[in-house]
Order: sequence, then C-alpha cells, then structure tokens
Amino acid sequence: MSTIIETDRLILRELATEDAREIYNLNQDPEVVKYVKSSPFESIDDARVFLEGYDRYKKEGMGRWACIIKETNEFIGWCGLIMEESGDVDLGFRLYRKNWGNGYATEAAKACLKYGFEELGLKRIVASALAENKASINVIEKLGMTFVKYFEIPEEEEHNGGKEGALYALEKED
Ligand SMILES: CC(C)(COP(=O)(O)OP(=O)(O)OC[C@H]1O[C@@H](n2cnc3c(N)ncnc32)[C@H](O)[C@@H]1OP(=O)(O)O)[C@@H](O)C(=O)NCCC(=O)NCCS
Repeated sequence: MSTIIETDRLILRELATEDAREIYNLNQDPEVVKYVKSSPFESIDDARVFLEGYDRYKKEGMGRWACIIKETNEFIGWCGLIMEESGDVDLGFRLYRKNWGNGYATEAAKACLKYGFEELGLKRIVASALAENKASINVIEKLGMTFVKYFEIPEEEEHNGGKEGALYALEKED
C-alpha cells in the first residue's frame, strides 16, 4: 500500500480493500456520522465493494487517504482531497471518536493542503462542513482557510438535507 504523505505522527496511504472492516466500523459510530451527508455502510461487504470500486486515486491522482499512527500502525480514519463535480477540490476528514482531540485531523489536513498545492499543483482547495459541526469548523479555521459562504445542504442528501453548510477555501498564494 503506497504511502502518500508522512507527517510527524502519521502516515497517509491509499485506502485498500483490506480496510473494509475499519471503514465499516468507523461509520457505525452515530457521533462520527452525525454531521455527514451519507449513510453508514450496511455491512463490511458493502464497504469492501465500495473500496474495490474506489478509483479516484487512478482517475484524479488524489482521494481520501487512510490515516495511520506511525508508532502503533493504528488505523484512525481518513483524510484527503477529492475532485467535486463543480471542479473544486475538496478537503475532508473523518476519525474514530477515540482519536479525537489529539490534533490528528489538523495535522493530517495541513499535510494534505501542502501536498495538494506543492505536489499536485492545485491553485485552490475548498472545505465544507455543517455550520453546527464545531470540531470540523475549528479544524478548517485552524488550517487558515477563509470563510466563503453559507449554503443549504441539498434536501435529497440521505442525511442533514436542508441544514446549513459553511464553505471555506484556501488559495495557493495564501
Ligand atoms: C472533525 C474531526 C475530524 C476532528 O478531529 P480531531 O483530530 O479531534 O481534530 P483536532 O484535534 O485536530 O482539532 C479539533 C479542534 O476542534 C475543537 N473542538 C472539538 N470539538 C469541539 C466542539 N464540540 N466545539 C468546539 N470546538 C471543538 C478542539 O478543541 C480542537 O481545537 P483546538 O486544537 O483549538 O483545541 C473529528 O471530530 C471527526 O472525525 N468528526 C466526525 C466526522 C466529521 O464530522 N468530519 C467532518 C465532516 S465535514
């Protein structure tokens, strides 16, 4: 499994089908998926099918990457960059609850921004979160991203449709 990014405490590597159980378990915690748009996987097999079909690394040269604690080899969640339909590149992160509050999301996300600008040559990266998702907004603001606007989460999303989202962006020159 190829390492993409290394930080002080973390390795970010491509997700693989072997991560199906972790991805399934991660999304089973209602607190973890409270502010996200999609439903948890129904089974580990569903997570495996998702990972088998996950072709963003090949197609876009980026994606959500597994976050692994270097010292213990523990899988703590994911962080990464994806190309949205609008053409914007979006930064996102999701960690097991037991790993919250240790600065891991900020550390991983900061490294993803650097990778996006310096290695992928991106000019702009966006991030969005439900306005009520204080932890996520806090991470985004700690990264130095600038508030762009509030927007409504589309009603057709599986979860949180109709709620208020906050969009942030960072330009390379910032
Ligand atoms: C968002 C998430 C990745 C943050 O992970 P993390 O490793 O705990 O983040 P960090 O420790 O780097 O930073 C979190 C910051 O938010 C703060 N924070 C956490 N919960 C908070 C809350 N309820 N209200 C206000 N601030 C809060 C922390 O104190 C910290 O700021 P500080 O360093 O100034 O103290 C994690 O909470 C998570 O996985 N949530 C569920 C998935 C999710 O919502 N993802 C984002 C979708 S947009």
